[in-house]
Amino acid sequence: MKNIAKSFSQYNSIYTDSIRNPEKFWAEIAEDFHWHTPWDKVLEYDFDKVDIKWFQGAKLNITENCLDRHVFTQPDKTAILWEPNEPGESEVRISYKELHEQVCIFSNVLLKHGIKKGDRVILYMPMVPELAVAVLACARVGAVHSVVFAGFSAASLSGRINDCKAKMLITADGVYRGAKKVNLKKIADEALEDCPQIKKVIVYRRLRDDMNLVEGRDLLWHQEIESVPKENKAAVMDAEDPLFILYTSGSTGKPKGLQHTCGGYMVYTAYTFQQTFGYKDDDVYWCTADIGWITGHSYIVYGPLLSGATTLMFEGIPTFPDAGRFWDVVEKHKVTLFYTAPTAIRSLMASPDSLATDRDLSSLRVLGTVGEPINEEAWHWYDKVIGKGKCPIVDTYWQTETGGFMISPLAHVTPTKPTFATLPLPGIQPAVLTADGKELLGNNIEGALCVKFPWPGMARTIFGDHQRFINTYFSAFKGHYFTGDGCKKDDDGYYRITGRMDDVIIVSGHNLGTAEIEDAINMHPNVIESAVVGFPHDIKGSGIMTYVITDNKMDSSSFEKEIRDWVSKEIGPIAKPDRIVAVGGLPKTRSGKIMRRILRKLAAGESDSLGDVSTLLNPECVEELKGAVLKS
Ligand code: WT7
Repeated sequence: MKNIAKSFSQYNSIYTDSIRNPEKFWAEIAEDFHWHTPWDKVLEYDFDKVDIKWFQGAKLNITENCLDRHVFTQPDKTAILWEPNEPGESEVRISYKELHEQVCIFSNVLLKHGIKKGDRVILYMPMVPELAVAVLACARVGAVHSVVFAGFSAASLSGRINDCKAKMLITADGVYRGAKKVNLKKIADEALEDCPQIKKVIVYRRLRDDMNLVEGRDLLWHQEIESVPKENKAAVMDAEDPLFILYTSGSTGKPKGLQHTCGGYMVYTAYTFQQTFGYKDDDVYWCTADIGWITGHSYIVYGPLLSGATTLMFEGIPTFPDAGRFWDVVEKHKVTLFYTAPTAIRSLMASPDSLATDRDLSSLRVLGTVGEPINEEAWHWYDKVIGKGKCPIVDTYWQTETGGFMISPLAHVTPTKPTFATLPLPGIQPAVLTADGKELLGNNIEGALCVKFPWPGMARTIFGDHQRFINTYFSAFKGHYFTGDGCKKDDDGYYRITGRMDDVIIVSGHNLGTAEIEDAINMHPNVIESAVVGFPHDIKGSGIMTYVITDNKMDSSSFEKEIRDWVSKEIGPIAKPDRIVAVGGLPKTRSGKIMRRILRKLAAGESDSLGDVSTLLNPECVEELKGAVLKS
């Protein structure tokens, strides 16, 4: 692939060229792929109407680039290396040839059941290879996949199914998560009570427990794949056709279905994967994320498979059977590129180092992190105990919306600095703006992190609500994409992400909107009002604190559990509040807005620096709040 920097001076010159002539830069990279028809125009864009088109006129199928291409050159190389939850259960290796065949077969299953180009298909599945097969089969027939993380509740699942008007659901009987089993099918059945348009459900059997099948609706994966041909011709897609929709929480309202495209996303994920990790053909690459998040889409499935890599898929959790599991797997499979989240690093750091140092981790070449700013202590532990001081840490800053890495060191190219995401990838033009929209130039600055020029991997819209896309990302700073994050640039021009500037909290690397959690809590029949804020948490980065006003019918002894279970049921266990305080009132401005600044300070234990509260509509509530928080 062209435009891959192998040294820092090369990075500097490639970066400069990529900004001077972006179209030439991206076209050179795009030439690496198989297109049925080449593009007429590399880029056309308008950041006011927010109309962005890359590789217009080009035709392709992303799965031919993930699979067919490699079947010619390396049919027997392992594409997916699957490590199950239970260490005693044997791993599964699926070669490029086998994966190609499985995807073709499942594509034929989708076609047989009437799935056509453009139809939306929801995947609600555990981390088994069949999830990757289902993702790729949707892409092969031109259906738009929307993966819903298997930790989400029935209400979250039905909300997403209805929002994108999906036609089919692919799920499983259940999932193993450490020592626990979760019955996914039961949750899916509950969700489907609110989704009458779903006529067909394909169920993959992982647990093999008894399950309830709805006659005429539910089909079994293993039976379906028996009765279709093995050959499948991929649908020919336009570069700008949608590839998938992935939901992410925002600072207001319901989760947003970010829509990504076939052509630009393909070019971007492959390039950023190879460039950032310094990928080599014999690497064994492991990203510990779940395919239910963008990290799994771009850097378990698409980026690695487009590159012909061996991508390890892990079904389990970092702490099962003990906190040495990651290091066992690294040793067992001689992992060379390892990519995880700061929250996982912090939780493993709390266990004895011997769990890592007793393992042979010498295969490791590059370490990566994603999801939230990594704190200095975790960075050094990762560097010393896991990387033995010889593996660069790529602190990759990006978002569901960006499709791929935006700011990150390039392994063995960019000198790293603890807690700094360092420098933009080639082709990326960040801008740091003041609150009133002035671009700050030079170094030693701090402000809102924006991007002032398009890149191929960016989301094009929010499904069904383009105006919301414009309002959320392109209206705060005219002519710029606003990330929602703040950043600092140091003497060397290195970027350090300082965190969200809006009402989104990053809990264990997952994006959660405070409004979404509040809406869920407020639906409880005994809740009058609630407010949710983040607070510093040693392991999760941010914890969730909720202030709740209830009516007098709520039993105070079971109140906390009741609210916690309620949120878990409405959204999913990831959104469960860590602290819940019952209060009599919430601090409000004269226009009736909740003053979250005060609630955040109280939650962080900074009640001495609340600032001026006299302008509040109800300043008297502050003393009561202080007392309630202290007792919590
Ligand atoms: C938000 C996006 C992109 C995959 C995982 C999360 C935060 C992400 C970093 C990093 C500091 C980071 C930002 C961003 N974030 N990576 N390396 N350093 N902050 O995707 O759920 O869309 O969340 O995660 O706040 O806006 P997401």
